[in-house]
Parts: sequence; structure tokens; C-alpha cells
Amino acid sequence: MLAYKPALYMLGTKRKNDDAGLEALRTENAALRTRLEALEAALPRASAINIAAVCSIRPGRPLVEPIGQVTALEQQDTTIDHFAGIEEPVDWRAAMQKDTWPVPALEDREHYFPGQDLDYWLSGLRDYKRMCQELEKVGSPLKKGDRIFDFGAASGRVLRHFLAQHPEPLELACADVNENHVAWVAQHLPQIEATQCHSIPSLPYEDNRFDLVSAFSVFTHMDEWETTWLAELRRILKPGGYAWLTVQTEQTWATLNPDHFLFQHLYNNRHILKEGTVNAEMFAAPMPKDKVVFTFSNNVVYNTCTFQSIEYCRRVWGRYFEVVDFLPRGSDFQDVFLLRKRAEA
Ligand SMILES: C[S@@+](CC[C@H](N)C(=O)[O-])C[C@H]1O[C@@H](n2cnc3c(N)ncnc32)[C@H](O)[C@@H]1O
Repeated sequence: MLAYKPALYMLGTKRKNDDAGLEALRTENAALRTRLEALEAALPRASAINIAAVCSIRPGRPLVEPIGQVTALEQQDTTIDHFAGIEEPVDWRAAMQKDTWPVPALEDREHYFPGQDLDYWLSGLRDYKRMCQELEKVGSPLKKGDRIFDFGAASGRVLRHFLAQHPEPLELACADVNENHVAWVAQHLPQIEATQCHSIPSLPYEDNRFDLVSAFSVFTHMDEWETTWLAELRRILKPGGYAWLTVQTEQTWATLNPDHFLFQHLYNNRHILKEGTVNAEMFAAPMPKDKVVFTFSNNVVYNTCTFQSIEYCRRVWGRYFEVVDFLPRGSDFQDVFLLRKRAEA
């Protein structure tokens, strides 16, 4: 067991915001993968699975050229009512003029909104607006210089709007297991501090650093590290700071009819599920457990689709945070828990 520790400790401890740094990280990751493969071959099956589960660095590939500037999307159509939960009218055309950063290609944005670049951009604007709205409602609007951390940020779908739209400057940071996402943010949104993390919760930030942490559709891909990540996010939040975490609850479960893209994703990949299956009947019935995890056998991290019941989150997540609010469909088809770090935590 001792043999792999030095390699693990190399990761998650450095910021990699320049080309040389990213290249060094790739080399380290390649070396780590080689060592893991050797360990997996040498160890009994159970130990090998444990090691693979904690390591989790995704291989890189060249980034794809961004599709262009935001203002070029003005000509595209949208049919989605993005701003349904936003109480103030949103002039998104005016917002576009403020965003001078490129829009990631499909491959570099988690394949979100294929062929609908405008909807991709608007979805991030919606999440930014909704967070600002709800923080104001609880009497904690963002202040100049506030520090915001987006966990599992991909290529900055939401965080870019804090940069472009917020009237006062903020300190923005993010982390992701996917080195391509980190590289994309470092290259195209350099005002945001991007860090590659691995799936062992161990962010390179001091305690009590951030005013707000968010995670959009990240706890929806967690299994055994869920509560450890809650503790880690709590650690880096200031006492009284807020966490905005999206979840798939029994409400989401009930919406998964065969036309839903998430149903289709699960159904089309049912042959690589580690156990169980997917069919329309199961989503027509109530969620069978407090926490349902679909695990795919295609890689060692970010290979799950997770549903947690509202009661489970209130009970289990409530041990780590004060539950301030629950917002059904607070982020598109996912629900949101607005949490606060207790002052004494
Ligand atoms: C469904 S995507 C959501 C991306 C982004 N938050 C958004 O809403 O556009 C999940 C993201 O979380 C990242 N991720 C998954 N598991 C992670 C983990 N354990 N630690 C950090 N990032 C993780 C993935 O690489 C991916 O970028």
C-alpha cells in the first residue's frame, strides 16, 4: 500500500494555470496511471478496485477550438424558457455584450446543449442569476471581493457569468477532476483560478477561505465520497458562508419518462451498468431507496448517476451544514439545496 502514496500526494496540491504547469501535470498523471496499472495487476482484485476508486485523474486530449465569441450567438434561436424562476426580467442580449470570453466547443463543455450554443450560454446565465436572487432573499447578497469556488466547474459554464455580469469584482476559483476543463479555464478564462483535483477530497485551499461554494451536477455523480466532499467544502467555506449544491431527488426521478434526455442516457448505457438495469417502469414507480446510484463500468471516476431523496439530504447533509432552503428545479431539471456553514463549525 505504501508504494502508491507518494504518487497520490503529488496531485491536488499545486495550481496549474500556465502551459508549463499543465504539461508537468500531464506528465505526473501519466506516471501515476502507469503505476496504478502495475499495482492493479499485482494486487488482489478488491485492493485494486479501492486504489482505482480514489485516483481518478481523467486522461487529457488536445482542446478543441472554441466556437467563437458570445455575441455571435445572438443570431441563434432559443425555445427554452430559461428564466422561469428568475423574478426580475433578464435582458440577456445586453448581458451578451458584457461577456467577451469565448464559448467552449461541445467536446469541452461536457457535451451540454448539442447544436444549441446559445442555450448553453443562457443556462449558465440563469444559474448565476438564480444564485444572486436567492442569496439576496436570505439577506446575504454577494459583496465586492467575495471569494467564490465552483466545484466540478467544467469549462466555467456558470462561473464565467460571475466574471462577466457581476457589477463588482469577485475572486473566482474552480476545480475539476478533468484536466481538459482545467486547461480550458486556464487558457480562456484566466481571471479564474483553476485547479485540477482528484476524487480524494483534498483541495489545496486553507480553511475558511470562501464566501460561497457551488457544485452544479457534481453530487449527482458521487457515490462513496459524497459526505467526505461535503466536509471538504465546509472546511474551505467561511463560517456563515453558503453552499449551493444541485441534486437529483425523487422529484427528478419522477420526471424521467422515455423522452427525458437523462432517461435516454441511462437507458442507452444500461449494457455497461455494473449492476441492475434501466427501464421506463422503474421511474414510473417511487424511488426505491434514499440514495440510488447507477454505476457504469467505463472508467474509474465520474462514472455514476446518483439520486438522493430530499429527506436523505436534509438528514445527512444537515449534519454538515444548516439547510437554509430547498429549491425544486432550482437549476433546470435538478433541485438545489442552499446550505450554510454553521458559525461554530
Ligand atoms: C455533469 S458535469 C457538470 C459541469 C458543470 N458543473 C456545469 O454545470 O456545467 C460534472 C462535472 O464534475 C466533474 N467531476 C465529477 N466528479 C468529480 C469529482 N469527484 N471531483 C471534481 N470534479 C468532478 C466532471 O469532470 C464534470 O466537469
